[in-house]
Amino acid sequence: MMKACLFDLDGVLVDTAIYHFRAWGELAQKYNFEFTEEHNEKLKGVSRMDSLEILMKLGSFGLNHEQKLKEASWKNEIYCSYIETLTPNDILPGVKEFLDALKVSGIGIALGSASKNAPSILERLEITSYFDAIIDGNQVSNAKPDPEVFLKGAEQLGVAPSDCIVFEDAEAGVEAAIRGGMKCVGVGSPEVLARADMVISNFNELSLDILITKMDREVA
Ligand code: BG6
Ligand code: MG
Repeated sequence: MMKACLFDLDGVLVDTAIYHFRAWGELAQKYNFEFTEEHNEKLKGVSRMDSLEILMKLGSFGLNHEQKLKEASWKNEIYCSYIETLTPNDILPGVKEFLDALKVSGIGIALGSASKNAPSILERLEITSYFDAIIDGNQVSNAKPDPEVFLKGAEQLGVAPSDCIVFEDAEAGVEAAIRGGMKCVGVGSPEVLARADMVISNFNELSLDILITKMDREVA
C-alpha cells in the first residue's frame, strides 16, 4: 500500500539541475575540458565531492585534498549565486497540486536529496511545510545510488520501504530507490530512467489516481 512519497529535489521539484550543470561547466572551462549535457547525466543525484571526482577523471586532472575542498566550494558559490534568484514561480509544473493532493489524502511526504543546499531551496520555493521529513546531503554519509537517504526518510515517517514511492530524475537516484526496496517514478527521459517503474515528463501528467492505478497499489 502506498503510504508515503519521497521526493528528490534537484530536477524533480525545481529545475536546479541546470544550475549545477552551469556551475560545473565553469569549472570545466577553468581546467579546459569539454563537459556536455550527456556527461552531466552522470552527475545528477551525485554528491558535490563525488561529482568533482567524476569531473577530475573526465578532465584528466588531479587535485590534492585541500584543492578539492577549494574547488568544490568555488563551484558551490557559483551555484548559490544562481539559486539566490529562486522564487515559488520556479516550482516545476504540477508539483504543488500533486503535493496538495498527497496532503489531503494523508500520504506522508519526505524529501530525499543529496544536496546540502536543499533546506534553503525549499525555503525559497516556500514549500518546506509540506514535508513531514527532510533528509538532505547534510544527514547522509553514503550518497546515491546508496539507498541511505530514502531509507532514512522512510524511517522518519515510520513507513516501510515497500510502502514508499520515490520520485527521481537521476539514474543514481532510481538505483537508490530500487536498492532500498521502494517503487520509483522517473521524472524526465524514459531512456535515461529505464529502470524506474514508470516515467513522467512532468507532474501535470500525474494525479494520485493515475499513480495508484499504475503502481497497482491502494491508498491505506
Ligand atoms: C543533487 C544534484 O541533488 O545534489 C547533484 O542532483 C548535486 O547534481 C548534489 O551535486 C549535491 O548538491 P549540493 O547542493 O550539496 O552541491
Ligand atoms: Mg535530482
